[in-house]
Amino acid sequence: MTDTGSMLSHLECTYCGEVFSANKINKLCSSNDCGKVLFPRYEIDSSKGKKILSDLSDRKPNMWRYKEFMPVRDEKNIVTLGEGFTPILECERLSYELGANIILKDEGLNPTSSFKARGLSSAVSKAKELGVSKFSIPSAGNAGGALAAYCARAGLEAYVFMPKDAPLANKTETIFHGANIELIDGYINDAGARSLELSKKKNLFDVSTLKEPYRVEGKKTMGYEIAEQLNWVLPDNIVYPTGGGTGIIGIWKAFQELNEIGILNSDLPRMICVQAEGCSPVVDAYLDGNRHAELFKSPQTIAAGMRVPIAVGDYLIIDAVKESNGTAIKVSDNNMIDGVNQLSNLEGIFCAPEGGSIVSATKKLISSGFIKSKESVLLLNTGSGFKYLDGLSAQIEAN
Ligand SMILES: Cc1ncc(COP(=O)(O)O)c(C=O)c1O
Ligand SMILES: [Zn+2]
Repeated sequence: MTDTGSMLSHLECTYCGEVFSANKINKLCSSNDCGKVLFPRYEIDSSKGKKILSDLSDRKPNMWRYKEFMPVRDEKNIVTLGEGFTPILECERLSYELGANIILKDEGLNPTSSFKARGLSSAVSKAKELGVSKFSIPSAGNAGGALAAYCARAGLEAYVFMPKDAPLANKTETIFHGANIELIDGYINDAGARSLELSKKKNLFDVSTLKEPYRVEGKKTMGYEIAEQLNWVLPDNIVYPTGGGTGIIGIWKAFQELNEIGILNSDLPRMICVQAEGCSPVVDAYLDGNRHAELFKSPQTIAAGMRVPIAVGDYLIIDAVKESNGTAIKVSDNNMIDGVNQLSNLEGIFCAPEGGSIVSATKKLISSGFIKSKESVLLLNTGSGFKYLDGLSAQIEAN
């Protein structure tokens, strides 16, 4: 075994605080029907943590450079396609247009062209370490493609359940990676029910968003990177397109860990959760002052990744927004397309509609005065426009 130096200690329920072993397979909290999300916890000595993080320069530019803060113990179990360490780009022309200091982390440059690569690299690696060889996933699109890719890379088996109207790119990549694919006449929660049913029957390990503890650790690395790439000075605001919420939850978890280590030279950013008007369960719950969201009926949006009508981690998204003094906002599909246009046109970044949504949300928050002109704003473009050619080209034809 080649030890990664992982400081993983145990799993902890984010709701009731119950503790579980990190050396065997766990999914959601099994204490007293709690059923909520488990987080990996690490035993990090702050001076050791600081020393590791201050001396990363000779490590490879991918998310496993933070291996001590990741769950995998043996290097040989890491299944990687080089995910992470995506660039943070200054957006001079967009900043001028919107009237704030805008930077953008481009997650469309990951393997499989979306940030989903991070979570699935982490989940597949850790599950492999715990002896899993057959996986299942319900997916709005990108996560399914990513699971298929990482399973192909590791020689493992994948079953992917996607709404039948998921983007063509996601269905095609999944098939080419040799996964079993089933198209569902419904939404991601219907795909979730089918994935669970087949998992029980065929003994598959279901890696649904936040229903196993390790996808979020991959997403967490976005937060580590933002901090490292900005020399441990975080931006004033982070704007994030939210579906199941692993991204925003993971980034917030990273900032808590880094804060505890004491390496940050700034306050924490305000976390801004963006959803589509056609599917806004978490934004609605936040605006109504609730910690949990209700099932959003008949969800519809061009941003497939944001078409998530119910999220098991709803309370964690809302907590992150509240603890950070952030906010939650929804935008229309037309506004998202305008955002894709603006980012493509002004900065040469052909982003996913999810990326377009955050441009449009930022514009709204600047005009409402929530974001002031001197503040820095980091946009997280979670995916590439190339994965949405069907949806985006239909927009050109329609106009
Ligand atoms: C491109 C893209 N952006 C954002 C999301 C939302 O992801 P989450 O809220 O789980 O981080 C997804 C999920 O499928 C996605 O594919
Ligand atoms: Zn619990």
